Amino acid sequence: MKKIIVCNHKMYLTRDESKVLRKKIDTIDTSGIDLIICPNYLNYDVFSRYKLGSQDAFYEDKGSYTGEVSAYDLSLIGVKYSLVGHSERRKYDDNKAINAKIKAILRNSMTPILCVGETRLDRELMRTPEVIKKQLDTALENVKLDDSQEIFIAYEPEYLIGGKTALTKKEIDDTITYIKKIVDYYGIRNYKLLYGGSVTSNNISNIKSEKLDGYLIGSSSVDEKELQQIINCIK
Ligand code: 13P
Repeated sequence: MKKIIVCNHKMYLTRDESKVLRKKIDTIDTSGIDLIICPNYLNYDVFSRYKLGSQDAFYEDKGSYTGEVSAYDLSLIGVKYSLVGHSERRKYDDNKAINAKIKAILRNSMTPILCVGETRLDRELMRTPEVIKKQLDTALENVKLDDSQEIFIAYEPEYLIGGKTALTKKEIDDTITYIKKIVDYYGIRNYKLLYGGSVTSNNISNIKSEKLDGYLIGSSSVDEKELQQIINCIK
């Protein structure tokens, strides 16, 4: 099965910079990789030849919600995936909103990429399992997938986002195994497991794992040399 790479461009690139990056990505051999790009809202057309994901999606389809963009509208322009519950957005969304967003994303024939992960303090206090269980319990409450639907779950320790040092393979594998157990218990069958948080060309060979279906990448995804080396490594 193809490994998945989700590129989260966050708010790193202007439109012109996005066009430059697109041209460089076009030269990368991505065969054998399922590459999904999450540009900012203004740059979907720049990356339209790739599978598109959004960095967030609002749960109502239409209405008086200033500044929001609905999963419904995103689906109409061909966006197939959406991040939800990213730690950089959890301060704006409570668990109820994250749950509603997952349902809206699925309802609009898109695949949610649910992000879960602990803070540094949680890890130091050995609370990672309980924190992740609570995030999964609330996000996936009454979420039912039919055979055509799928969900990605990305394990991203909040304190490792935007750095250069990822967790060790064992630390990732342990939490991924735990997440898998919970999701299996919920009876969800169609899911993929990703890791994110400081994935770079320097550490990718150390954290490659058969337990992972792919990676969610931030800063390294807007540097084509980094991206190319990561892709070459996981192929
Ligand atoms: P970095 O790869 O920059 O650590 O970001 C990870 C992330 O937040 C992806 O969603």
